[in-house]
Amino acid sequence: MSEIRKVVVPAAGWGTRFLPITKAVPKEMLPLVDRPVIHYGVEEAVASGISQVIVITSQGKQAMEDYFNPNPQLERYLEGKGQSHLLKDVQRLMDCIEMRYVVQEEQLGLGHAVLTAAKAVGSEPFAVLLPDDIIQSERPVLGQMIELFQRYHASILAVRKVPKEQVTGYGIIEPEEVASGFYKVRGLVEKPGVDEAPSDLGIVGRYILTPGIFEALRKTAPSALGEIQVTDGIANLLRKEPVYAYEFQGTRHDVGTPLGLMKASIALSLARQDIGPALRDYLIRTTDNQVTDH
Ligand code: G1P
Repeated sequence: MSEIRKVVVPAAGWGTRFLPITKAVPKEMLPLVDRPVIHYGVEEAVASGISQVIVITSQGKQAMEDYFNPNPQLERYLEGKGQSHLLKDVQRLMDCIEMRYVVQEEQLGLGHAVLTAAKAVGSEPFAVLLPDDIIQSERPVLGQMIELFQRYHASILAVRKVPKEQVTGYGIIEPEEVASGFYKVRGLVEKPGVDEAPSDLGIVGRYILTPGIFEALRKTAPSALGEIQVTDGIANLLRKEPVYAYEFQGTRHDVGTPLGLMKASIALSLARQDIGPALRDYLIRTTDNQVTDH
């Protein structure tokens, strides 16, 4: 089967970088302008032709389900006021996609989260989308990767060049370029030291994986921190099947830290017609120390 119908969205973590707010609000529900972070990932999946989202969730994250579920009372209220358009963006997504939730009982790493989805995915190739990575692009990145999958019928990882000192924060591939921006993966290592990194190509949170990954992950030993890394699972998969990497077109925001979320909020707000111009004016005046009232 060469169609990619399902995407796994790991969203079970504690979000400790955002404490204290993540004590009560799931990290994936933090606002990016006027919608939660996870909305953008689901939107990209829909735009890429995916029909089922499998969210890996944990206790205390009910707000994600509430967001995607219908709320008839609110809908009736808004209809009465002629404001039902305020929900249209979520409703449009829900018309195109089926949401499933699988609970990850213990947070034992990204590889473990993917493995938790094994039953829901079954024996077909699928996508993984990390909601912390928001990518603005003309064509959705998952869609770009699905097209490549239809040609190569193998696992494909999204990568981008990262500054040398930042390789320690990524899965890094050892590449063999087969076409411009498209690589055969020779090896990969999770968060290497600056001097051990096999290249400057870091994995970004979009993957197309064959179902062989589940067997490979089951054989993957936990890291020193007791976590099963998806990167190590893919390294195991590589012994059996080819894996490719794609240097995608698009701008990526890492909203997994407060600073990254703030920068993404500014970038996305500036691109909006309703609030962009006023925000631009405010930013110019603030950086010039001219703001006296808000
Ligand atoms: C995870 C992966 C890493 C990848 C990164 C992309 O790391 O383990 O290989 O490069 O996502 O965002 P995390 O950011 O969860 O530490």
